[in-house]
Amino acid sequence: MKKNNKYAVITGASSGIGYALSCQVAMRGYNVILIARDTDRLETVSNDLVANYGVGVITLAYDLTCQSSIEQLMQALEPYIDQVEVFINNAGVGLSGEFVGNSLSEQHRLLDINIKATVTLSHFIAKHFIAKKRGYIMNVASLAAFQPGPYYSSYYATKSYILHFTEGLAVELKKHNVICSALCPGTTDTPFHHRAGSTDTGLAKGLFGIVMSANEVAAAGVKGLFKKRVVVVPGIVNKIAMFSIRLAPRWLARQITAQINQ
Ligand SMILES: NC(=O)c1ccc[n+]([C@@H]2O[C@H](COP(=O)([O-])OP(=O)(O)OC[C@H]3O[C@@H](n4cnc5c(N)ncnc54)[C@H](OP(=O)(O)O)[C@@H]3O)[C@@H](O)[C@H]2O)c1
Repeated sequence: MKKNNKYAVITGASSGIGYALSCQVAMRGYNVILIARDTDRLETVSNDLVANYGVGVITLAYDLTCQSSIEQLMQALEPYIDQVEVFINNAGVGLSGEFVGNSLSEQHRLLDINIKATVTLSHFIAKHFIAKKRGYIMNVASLAAFQPGPYYSSYYATKSYILHFTEGLAVELKKHNVICSALCPGTTDTPFHHRAGSTDTGLAKGLFGIVMSANEVAAAGVKGLFKKRVVVVPGIVNKIAMFSIRLAPRWLARQITAQINQ
């Protein structure tokens, strides 16, 4: 383990963007606490980080859709909490298709992980960071946060929540020297779309066929966090898309997104 005792916590660290974010903070010398459910994948990520960056790694396997599991996780974090300087709420899932075509339990699971877990863990860590008068919180939203998303309606709405929640927190916590940043990736090459059942959609193929790597997204996200950027949209095409959505009438944004998501 490196001599410094700073920790970064990353949820959803067993795969995709979370794994890449873990590498980005580890290369800056942070020891890492990795959270996800898949213990084998967590072990693999842990071995990679130790081998490549020589940092200390702690893995915690918890299900963030379950309130009692989140409470156990917060207890497990307590021994390290004074050393935690960065907290990244990245874990999230997608749910594609018509709203009524997905079960209500799938909808609730989506809200539990994408919103409830992020709000619960943000509340937990913000109080510690305020007491310490420093800290960095990153919440992973999406380019989907900037418009409604027919055929992916609940997912897009969860990401709008995370974006607006994080922007609000950023203002509230600034006076305590606590930085909040929302990372808003466009389509990224991870297992996300396979898991969400959306591999055949235009969304999975990316705007103009452009799909960023998880490493590119994570590098932009962590750079933005430490530069105290409240909203980080990685990639020029995604930035253009974000500004275009702002200028387009809402009916048009809805129609285009429906085409992309089907
Ligand atoms: N890929 C994209 O195109 C894209 C675009 C914009 C935003 N995002 C956002 O980026 C974030 C990361 O997604 P990704 O693309 O990296 O997808 P991913 O590779 O599927 O990673 C999702 C991570 O979340 C964890 N996770 C899922 N359910 C969980 C649960 N119930 N409890 C604890 N951990 C759980 C997974 O670990 P386990 O399965 O081991 O639990 C995994 O580590 C998400 O918030 C997603 O909405 C992705």
